[in-house]
Amino acid sequence: MPDHRPDRVPLWRHLAMFRRDILSTQPAKLYRARMAEFRLPFLRSFMVNEPDLVRLVLQERPQDFPKSSRVAEGLRLLLGNSVFLTNGATWARQRRMIDPAFEGGRLSETFPAMWAAAQATAARLAPGPLDAEAAMSHAAADVIFRTLFSVPIEDATAAAVYREFRAHQAAQPLMNLGALLPLPRWMPRLHSRRARTTARRIRALITQMTVARAQAIAEGTAPDDLATKIMTTTDPETGARFDTAEMVDQVAIFFLAGHETSASALAWALYLLATHADVQDALAAEAAALDPWLERGDVPDFGVLSKLPRTRDAFRETLRLYPPVPMLVREAARAERFRDRAVPPGAQVIVSPWHMGRNERIWPDPHDFRPARWQESETRAHARDGYLPFSAGPRVCTGAGFAMAEAVLILATLLRRFRFTPDGQKPVPVAHLTVRSGTGIHLRVAPR
Ligand code: HEM
Repeated sequence: MPDHRPDRVPLWRHLAMFRRDILSTQPAKLYRARMAEFRLPFLRSFMVNEPDLVRLVLQERPQDFPKSSRVAEGLRLLLGNSVFLTNGATWARQRRMIDPAFEGGRLSETFPAMWAAAQATAARLAPGPLDAEAAMSHAAADVIFRTLFSVPIEDATAAAVYREFRAHQAAQPLMNLGALLPLPRWMPRLHSRRARTTARRIRALITQMTVARAQAIAEGTAPDDLATKIMTTTDPETGARFDTAEMVDQVAIFFLAGHETSASALAWALYLLATHADVQDALAAEAAALDPWLERGDVPDFGVLSKLPRTRDAFRETLRLYPPVPMLVREAARAERFRDRAVPPGAQVIVSPWHMGRNERIWPDPHDFRPARWQESETRAHARDGYLPFSAGPRVCTGAGFAMAEAVLILATLLRRFRFTPDGQKPVPVAHLTVRSGTGIHLRVAPR
């Protein structure tokens, strides 16, 4: 857990803390509160922590709580008009064209690419110290490029996107700042020159890949991967496909949402397993299920994941404690009344997977890492009320099934070969683009 601020602090101190990190800025009472209101000079924000209110916002009336335009401002530079930022009819059309690529059957077709990325990750690891965040970023970026464009991260363009992306994050490190800073709406949001340059370079590289793919599709030589699937899907309502510009925006979000999030969760998972040796040993034993294919140098089919239920539970539990997207920010489109308080139109409505996952009214032992809870029947009800790592409702993460498959496979592959122990400073969660550790996640790797 991060440190928490005292319940009352002066505004100037709150803002100073805010610039550093949005997790430690929150008071500990939010793990129990049903709702909290933040009143700042130009901004009213409501964090809703009660399951019924969360359901109202995400599932029952999502059209009345569109994505916050303040969040969009910060991300637009890189993501343009991507499905992550759009609302209304544009968003609905984009989802109609993207969702088929992530459906169950289709997902199983990406499995050989995930398997190859998992093997490559294991091959890169060596006994000794490990920067788990860097290693898992590399692994997750590799998965995205292999599944989306059929190229490994070593491909020159893929490697350049990855490099520029890291520079972009360093130039613009805090997510949602624009959303939550109490600046008046008319004030322009300044992006550093460096952030503009890196965003432009990333988009130029992605455009290059997308144009090349459009040509290969036209020539009939395109590989059968996610990019081809999405670019050849026609909207059932209009019959149109994505044009190059709109596809570039979608590739940008697949890369961002698809690799940053998985990387964050995998690094925390390795940390939790390193600090819970008994769980780690049990998962290593379970991973023996992969042996027949590892010995033959062969690729199993997607069904092999069903042999790894404990690994799945450990990853679920990691997502409960360290949801990579800690807060979801929406805007009230019209006046609302929440728990007898007036919510004016334009107010920010925040749903916090971080606080719901550790909510003391919902979860027993909320801050403990206990994967076995996922085998208990009560957990279903707790999860219905307080488990939101992939959000919920129509805007639920498109890649949830993909991310679960990728993570279980990578963890099992690594645990079969290596033992992880903690090394160096204890990690401290901070909310950057995703939940990362302010002190890094440093582990020691030994052969198993
Ligand atoms: C552990 C990994 C992941 C986590 C925890 C995660 C979490 C989330 C969350 C919480 C949202 C909703 C954000 C909001 O509404 O404000 C979201 C949206 C999204 N995610 Fe993921 N995600 C993960 C992996 C992926 C992957 C692998 C992909 C694609 C390859 C992906 C693609 C997307 C897209 C396109 C959206 C936007 C959906 C929309 O707004 O309609 N995500 N994700």
